[in-house]
Amino acid sequence: MQHRIVVASGKGGVGKSTVSACLAQEMARRGHSVLLIDCDIGLRSLDLILGVDEHVLFTWADVVLGRCELHQAIMVRGDFHLLCAPLQPERALTDDMLQKLVKSCTQYDVVIIDAPAGIGFGFRMACLAANRALILTTPDPICVRSVAAAVRQVSRCGLKDIRLLVNRFDRRLAMRGKVLMIDDIIDSTETQLIGVIPQESRLFSQTADGLPLQEGIVLQAVRRTAARLDGENVPLIITPSE
Ligand SMILES: Nc1ncnc2c1ncn2[C@@H]1O[C@H](COP(=O)(O)OP(=O)(O)OP(=O)(O)O)[C@@H](O)[C@H]1O
Ligand SMILES: [Mg+2]
Repeated sequence: MQHRIVVASGKGGVGKSTVSACLAQEMARRGHSVLLIDCDIGLRSLDLILGVDEHVLFTWADVVLGRCELHQAIMVRGDFHLLCAPLQPERALTDDMLQKLVKSCTQYDVVIIDAPAGIGFGFRMACLAANRALILTTPDPICVRSVAAAVRQVSRCGLKDIRLLVNRFDRRLAMRGKVLMIDDIIDSTETQLIGVIPQESRLFSQTADGLPLQEGIVLQAVRRTAARLDGENVPLIITPSE
């Protein structure tokens, strides 16, 4: 079965694109053939995160609207392939077009779809194309509250395999009561946890440089999440932030 994983959230800026890029790298490292799709129409960022922003000629919108072949829009990034989102909204796009494209990409056994912020058209398009969902949240109460809305919308798109992924967790801040503890997040979202990714200060400079993501506590945490997505029983380790 093709694993089509949408990385979504209620609130924006929680790390969906960063985690999607790391997950693509880690799933490829596990031997999967991986396609990473940026679904953030008008606000794409994976081309920047992965350092190919100056080389994007075609996007998946060009493919679904018949302006180019799939291979012309695919960008090879390390061990996985990337499809960028269009820079402008396109009136001709319908919400099932990405789903049709993804289903036709049978050469990939893992497709990771980076959803846009909010729960509008792009969010629906990303969810319809997927058969599994990772809902990302940071440990702050506002973001955690938005998980319920995201889970509802993802379910409306027919997805049943929905897991919670906590990003930017800082254990020391949680111990001091500055952010929510993991147990409290699980209780209030009533969603099964698949991983906890720590806050890593080094990430900022990495993405600004457009470099591929390098070894660090974020990538290690995403590696454990990738193993769990593959059905492995990996104990939950909450790495202290730097
Ligand atoms: N675990 C982490 N530790 C430190 N910084 C992080 C972590 N995860 C993400 N970030 C930073 O958070 C910022 C937002 O990340 P990103 O763009 O991936 O979020 P997003 O959810 O995709 O945003 P949007 O909703 O706008 O698409 C970036 O500067 C990124 O480097
Ligand atoms: Mg993003």
